[in-house]
Amino acid sequence: MQQSPMLIIGKNGKTGARVNQRLQAFGYETRALSRSTTPSFDWDNPATWLAAIEGTRAAYITYQPDLAVPQALPAVQKFVDLATAVGLEHIVLLSGRGEEGAQRAEQVLMDSGLSWNIVRSSWFAQNFSESFMLEGILAGELVLPAGDEVEPFIDIDDIADVAVAALTKSELRNKLFEVTGPRALTFAQCIREISEALGKPVEYTQVPVDAYIDALQEQGVSQDLQWLLRHLFTEVFDGRNRAPTTGVEQALGRPATDFRTYVQKTIESGSWNPLAQGKSA
Ligand SMILES: NC(=O)c1ccc[n+]([C@@H]2O[C@H](COP(=O)([O-])OP(=O)(O)OC[C@H]3O[C@@H](n4cnc5c(N)ncnc54)[C@H](OP(=O)(O)O)[C@@H]3O)[C@@H](O)[C@H]2O)c1
Repeated sequence: MQQSPMLIIGKNGKTGARVNQRLQAFGYETRALSRSTTPSFDWDNPATWLAAIEGTRAAYITYQPDLAVPQALPAVQKFVDLATAVGLEHIVLLSGRGEEGAQRAEQVLMDSGLSWNIVRSSWFAQNFSESFMLEGILAGELVLPAGDEVEPFIDIDDIADVAVAALTKSELRNKLFEVTGPRALTFAQCIREISEALGKPVEYTQVPVDAYIDALQEQGVSQDLQWLLRHLFTEVFDGRNRAPTTGVEQALGRPATDFRTYVQKTIESGSWNPLAQGKSA
């Protein structure tokens, strides 16, 4: 058992929380941070970084708001330089498939001389239940600018398992795991599966990307997020990522979780129950 804790950047994030919970269950000491923790870690405030990294041995890193945004590259470079200077040994970086900006940031880590892993992921299935698509599902209609293109959505419990394996198994070091779910689906097909399993009507409506971004602007969504969603729906979601990969199996020796299993788990968790949402709000 190591003497120093594992650093997790993104304590309450979708994957960070899962990685933290798994490491703790395995008996590892963790230092899980974000802007609201003490000490805090803020990607927009490098003055917070040294205290976060010092004394840790390995780190799981999720960049905010997304590794594809232009400011990610200099931030990751600066983080990796600082980590190297203070003796961090190993970084596991969460990245996105088919995103040039994200891949430039990956390269910084791979060239750093530190021990590394990249977990390069497809779209998260949990975007339907823990992120920007939840509201539409609860309202009975998901509106997006995505058409017939398919995506092999990944259950992020698989990402957390891969990240923990990468952090704890030395034989997996210095490898890039391109991880996806086993089945590629359109958004309309995902909504159909969710609707059928829930036993209540949820519709999928496709709108032009400009109309979608205009609606986000009216809702007061930040410029950064508007840029990101336009980038994802116009450039990244063009078919380049449609093929499922075997990255989960390579890392874990078992197949990736099917979307159907994710849907069942999510129904059991109550995340798509409007009453449960109302109570927790
Ligand atoms: N969503 C997808 O489909 C997808 C697919 C592939 C890759 N990715 C990658 O996943 C990464 C995000 O990981 P995730 O989804 O696990 O995280 P997440 O759920 O987006 O993390 C949310 C947490 O990040 C913290 N946070 C926000 N701004 C921060 C900042 N400036 N500095 C430090 N912490 C901040 C917030 O906590 P506080 O308020 O306490 O700070 C918040 O609770 C991105 O880099 C993205 O590129 C996403």
